[in-house]
Order: sequence, then structure tokens, then C-alpha cells
Amino acid sequence: MNLTLKVWRQRNSKDAGRCETYEAKDVLDDMSFLEMLDVVNEGLIARGEDPIAFDSDCREGICGTCSLVINGVPHGGHRGTATCQLHMRHFKDGDTITIEPWRARAFPIVKDLVTNRSAFDRIIQAGGFISVSTGGAPDGNAVPVPKTSADAAMDAASCIGCGACVAVCKNASAMLFVAAKVSHLNLLPQGKAEKDRRVLHMVRQMDAEGFGSCTVTGSCEAVCPKEISLSFIAKMNRDYGAALLKGV
Ligand code: SF4
Ligand code: FES
Repeated sequence: MNLTLKVWRQRNSKDAGRCETYEAKDVLDDMSFLEMLDVVNEGLIARGEDPIAFDSDCREGICGTCSLVINGVPHGGHRGTATCQLHMRHFKDGDTITIEPWRARAFPIVKDLVTNRSAFDRIIQAGGFISVSTGGAPDGNAVPVPKTSADAAMDAASCIGCGACVAVCKNASAMLFVAAKVSHLNLLPQGKAEKDRRVLHMVRQMDAEGFGSCTVTGSCEAVCPKEISLSFIAKMNRDYGAALLKGV
């Protein structure tokens, strides 16, 4: 395939940025989207031009580092698929593809397609942990966990912290991410002792970072590469309300 790419280029956070056009030639069906960009970058480097900066790490859909808005949709719009797992077979010869960074006030652009998502780290630091000295590894059956709780906690824990939910939301809300991170601990017996404090602190930090409010459009769930359910937002709201009522 030969493709035309319209790529957001921005030297740094102060630069106004602009869209630039590149030709991607002889792209193979089996290439991942990031491998296609690697080849484009090799051409730019060979010509002495600045390569396109973009984030990636595992390239296996598990780290949450890759973060491209492809044709207007975070991760490209294929259900349950992160950018690094998107393959070029989904495009056809002659296509024009736009590639932009996550856009949200809380995720400032560092360069080109790279954004600073450390706001998520600070939300985790506010309460996304269990503070207990665990000592040696306990027996797996020492703390009984109901199967339904274990399954739901595992579903929530599959959030990879990519930020697509924020990038797609018209309010730049981080509710799906925070709900997943609160819920996977609050659902388990080991997380119950700090349940109230956790949800209050993490929601407070989310607001302090400048993320918007949730108006339940569902766009976050639609683009989430781990298909985190909106129901976790409802659960977090219940936990939050209960913690407020207790006056924690
Ligand atoms: S909830 Fe989904 S879209 Fe949001 S950060 Fe987690 S994995 Fe990414
Ligand atoms: S690079 Fe790790 S999830 Fe995409």
C-alpha cells in the first residue's frame, strides 16, 4: 500500500504545532501501525529530517504507552485494540490517515505525538495502593475472595492507564480510568480498610489535575483497549457517596 499521512508536528509544549504531510510507501498488511511509523521515521532520518516523536514500549497492548488519535479516534477505533496492536490490513491503498496526539488540558504535549500523562501517576499516588506491611507471601487461600468480586476486580485491573478514555471524552474526563483503579482495590477484602480514603483522595486528585466531569456519553468505554465497563463509574460514585456520608 501507498498511504498519505497527515501528522501533527509540534516542537515542544510552547510551539503552536501544525499538520504535515508525509508519504508512506510500500506499507505491508502485516505491519503494525507503529512499525509503519518506524519505516516513515527511517526515511526521515536518512534525509536528515527530524523523526516523528511518538510513544511506545511493550507493543503488546499491556503497558498503555502508545497513544495516537488515528482518523479522529483514540487508538484508531477497533474495539479492544491499542494503537500498537492495530495492523495496517485495516487500511487500503491510497488512504489518507490523520495522526494526532491525545488532546486534553491535563495531558500537555511534550513533542509531536508525545504527551505528558504523569497526572495519572499522581492520581495513583493519591490512593491507588494498599498500605500494609505484607511480610512473606501468605497462603493463597488465607483470605477468601468471592468469585464475583475476584472477577470484577480483575476486569477493573486490566486498565493499562493509556488515557484514551480522556482523549475521546468531550469533557476530558478521567472517570473511567479512576473508577477502574479505585474499583480493583475496593472490591477486594485486602483493599477494604482504605476504601473510603482511597476514593476520596483519588477523586480529589483527579479534579485537581484539571480533568472534566463525566456526563455519561459512553465514548470512553467505546475506545478503551481493555473494554473497561462504564459500570465501574457507577460503582465509584456509590463508593464516593458512601464515603462522604460517613464523613471520612
Ligand atoms: S480505562 Fe481504558 S482507555 Fe482509560 S486508561 Fe484504562 S485502559 Fe486506557
Ligand atoms: S506500546 Fe504498550 S500498550 Fe501499546
